Amino acid sequence: MSAVIIPPEWNARENEITPEGAYQNRREFLKAMGIVGLGIAGALYSRPAFAAGNTLKELLFGKGKPLKTDFEKVAGLKRNAAFIADRPISDEKAALTYNNFYEFTSVKDGVWKLVDDFKPRPWQVEIAGHVEKPGTMDVDELIRSLPLEERVYRHRCVERWAMVVPWNGFPMKALIEKFRPTAKARFVRFVSFMDPEVAPGQKLQSHLPWPYNEGLTMAEAMNELAFVATGVYGHTLPVQHGAPLRIVTPWKYGYKSIKSIVKIEFTDRQPETFWSTLVPHEYPFESNVDPDVPHPRWSQRTEKMIGTGDVYETKKYNGYGKWVAGLYS
Ligand code: MTE
Repeated sequence: MSAVIIPPEWNARENEITPEGAYQNRREFLKAMGIVGLGIAGALYSRPAFAAGNTLKELLFGKGKPLKTDFEKVAGLKRNAAFIADRPISDEKAALTYNNFYEFTSVKDGVWKLVDDFKPRPWQVEIAGHVEKPGTMDVDELIRSLPLEERVYRHRCVERWAMVVPWNGFPMKALIEKFRPTAKARFVRFVSFMDPEVAPGQKLQSHLPWPYNEGLTMAEAMNELAFVATGVYGHTLPVQHGAPLRIVTPWKYGYKSIKSIVKIEFTDRQPETFWSTLVPHEYPFESNVDPDVPHPRWSQRTEKMIGTGDVYETKKYNGYGKWVAGLYS
């Protein structure tokens, strides 16, 4: 794919790009791929599979590829009874095969098929900025040093799909207290990995503001609800969910919950974020779930559960007002 030339029509989509993806349905995807595909098709055309009538999408995303499900179980995990969602836990297979992870692709059901070359171990996490104990730490050493638990959280994407997910990991507060930010720290900035050699989305869409980055205020990061996930469904995190560690802020739209973090930086000013850099008027820094604040291009009144297709009314703060409303009063 490295030889593919991205035509100007593709780059023009930069102004429209949203976490909703440019490819909401197969037809749109194939249309868009028709543009990029001019380059790719040349490479694929001679393949017997193409002649056999497979679509470009199937060729690119591996039709028939088995879904990896043999993840390492996390021993001794206890579910925190304070965090149990009021809806059934989503089907694991549905959650594993429907992801937003633009480093790989903006095609949600294509992410899991493209993650094989990504190695989440060994992995170092850098702690930087206004903090008493800056430095770099091996992710497993970090995980061993913090209190592991399981929490069932509602997970709401800005695109209106939702899930209920049993994450395992540790409270973000515990991580922050471990590294002791100084009085100057007002925000926490999280930075994801950068490796176009294993992440085809970073290579094909090199004009996007990689690496993916996000941020929270210190008060948000210290809230009891803010969580650092190192696993899901009782096992370690699959790559498509953000291995080896990602954050989970269930009262905010899903794009705030950054995956595969390599750096945590304590800053004195509000950090830029991936989506607010791209489309500032659509993806503000705060981005709390709110049915009364429509996205500029769609209503946020309802949400659709992945797996069942059930539709519910959106709740303010995604139903977590008890924990976080005080942060914004
Ligand atoms: N983190 C990184 N590094 N890259 C991404 O593209 N997408 C975000 C968020 N974290 C994203 C990311 C978006 S838009 C959503 S909705 C959630 O991850 C999806 O998480 P899930 O795939 O585990 O359900």
